[in-house]
Amino acid sequence: MKHSEYPIGLFDSGIGGTSIWKEIHFLMPNESTIYLSDSKNAPYGNKNKEQIIEFAIKNTEYLLSKNCKIIIVACNTATTNAIDVLRNRYKIPFIGIEPAIKPAALKTRTNAVGILATKGTLNSKLFEKTSSSLSTELAIIEQVGEGLVNLIEKGNINSKDMEILLRRYLKPMIKANVDHIVLGCTHYPYLKNQIQDIVGPSVIIIDSGNAVALQTKNILESKNLINKQKEIKPFHNFFVNKKASVLKKILENYKSEIEIKEVYF
Ligand code: DGL
Repeated sequence: MKHSEYPIGLFDSGIGGTSIWKEIHFLMPNESTIYLSDSKNAPYGNKNKEQIIEFAIKNTEYLLSKNCKIIIVACNTATTNAIDVLRNRYKIPFIGIEPAIKPAALKTRTNAVGILATKGTLNSKLFEKTSSSLSTELAIIEQVGEGLVNLIEKGNINSKDMEILLRRYLKPMIKANVDHIVLGCTHYPYLKNQIQDIVGPSVIIIDSGNAVALQTKNILESKNLINKQKEIKPFHNFFVNKKASVLKKILENYKSEIEIKEVYF
């Protein structure tokens, strides 16, 4: 097998990074993938930096043992807290994901943007650096999405509890007249419809999924790592260290092409 035929690896604290996997699969259907859902340790958002780095290293080692050619840190919390450590430690290319606050800042007309993310992301140095580089005239309404990841991991996406939390978290944004809301956690694209219903159709909701897929493709092209072989069908292996039922549900539409395994890691 040529190096270019090796899989793309992705990891997240849980099932949220599948929102990135879907973008990757859509843009590069000929690529094989390996997805690691560290659901046992979710949420990462409330953990300290050292713990997040430890999980990121463990996940990376697992993906390296499966011969991945590139690793996507499909988690804003792990990217903003650990990607520098990973890049210093391993030779393999890493793609990270960060809240799309810059594009929102460029497009806003009300000069107010909202960002919903985990505590770990909003408190990170990387996020602080990005937000402090933006105009001081811009109002950034930051909101920790406490409890949202837990509900998503349990499969309670369309529940009353979710609606109550979302209404509470979005209220200050509506009050501040934001015209863009940035989803700074890879779990949150699964809440997009509910958020849109609460804030109304005029507010633009953005996430970084598509940008990450494009960036991954660019890096693979620049390193001559795009899979050009078309004879053998690509494989898609998902590994989860908890019950796989919720993961199976959100990947229902892909069930004929993927394999999901419950494993210990
Ligand atoms: N999906 C993750 C993120 O993008 C992590 C959420 C969490 O585990 O708290 O931040």
